[in-house]
Amino acid sequence: MKINGTHYRSLWWNHENNVLEIIDQRWLPHELRIQQIARLQDLATAIVEMRVRGAPLIGATAAYGMALAMAEDPSDANLDAAWAYLEKTRPTAINLRWALDRCRRALQPLAETDRAEAALTLAHEIADEDVEVNRRIGENGLALIREIAARKPAGEPTRLLTHCNAGWIATVDWGTATSPMYQAHDEGIALHVWVDETRPRNQGALTAWELGSHGVPHTYITDNAGGHMMQHGLVDMVLIGTDRTTRQGDVCNKIGSYLKALAARDNDIPFYVALPSSTIDWTVSNGVAEIPIEERDVRETTHVQGKTEAGAIESVQLTPDDTPGGNPAFDVTPNRLVTGLITERGICPATPEGLSDMFPELARGV
Ligand code: MRU
Repeated sequence: MKINGTHYRSLWWNHENNVLEIIDQRWLPHELRIQQIARLQDLATAIVEMRVRGAPLIGATAAYGMALAMAEDPSDANLDAAWAYLEKTRPTAINLRWALDRCRRALQPLAETDRAEAALTLAHEIADEDVEVNRRIGENGLALIREIAARKPAGEPTRLLTHCNAGWIATVDWGTATSPMYQAHDEGIALHVWVDETRPRNQGALTAWELGSHGVPHTYITDNAGGHMMQHGLVDMVLIGTDRTTRQGDVCNKIGSYLKALAARDNDIPFYVALPSSTIDWTVSNGVAEIPIEERDVRETTHVQGKTEAGAIESVQLTPDDTPGGNPAFDVTPNRLVTGLITERGICPATPEGLSDMFPELARGV
């Protein structure tokens, strides 16, 4: 998507210097800093520290990690070592393992001498595919927004509520939940997006930055405001992304998503989740019981980073010294609370049949 008139992806390969370039998201929305990555270790750090983040982007980044690893040492041992090293960088987003498995499956049968080039070609392929898949998710979600917009009184915008950042910087381009928003806005549908701040990392600020850059009207609200908005008829649809969706349609996403689903159900508001098929974990059924939830550093809850009036980016402490904190980064919304899943192939019910009818070949693969 565009920032100040220039089209960006969230990562790209610099062919001149043979390095990966990423947008270092730790500095957004205040500064656009680009980082060059030439070593596997630095790429792993970028994932762990959330310089790159969002399930699909984590997957694409990991594919480039395999390419960097193969350029250093294309042996069988290093192929397995790089897989294992990258796999432990973040535990919840399944796109990471999806991309690593795909790379290992493709590279293993090749001669060692062919692996470096093949790995880089495959990483480009995974990144390009992600762009196209998200564009299609946008088309499918757009149909839904058109229907809602058609039922609205003239002049009233369609009001969406989103949580976290399932935007273009969480993917290679377009985003998942934001792709239908961008496409609806581009088509001239009047939208208004309520953007949850998404404590503790405040990814809502990233979403606000994205939507603002694209001219989509939005309002940044506290995490606790959504239920109130829904009770007062101010939300037509909740639309979020996901880090891992189970074969029965349970949806794991950023902490707080479950509470939005409960409030949406209590107020008869449709709750949709946008996802590429690479986010489905076909090996897992019951998300609450089976998905590992990342526990992050409590400092993310006790401190907050922002821009001072003088323009410096600083972190400040919110709590008394040594206050104990807990920081589960994701939660699971059971499928019964999900109205539908917006995928690259179409919209399906969040049920085992809904998903296996939509992706029969993937469902059979287990
Ligand atoms: O911890 P993050 O910022 O990586 O979490 C991101 C999310 O929870 C997104 O909603 C999810 O990855 C979908 S991204 C298209």
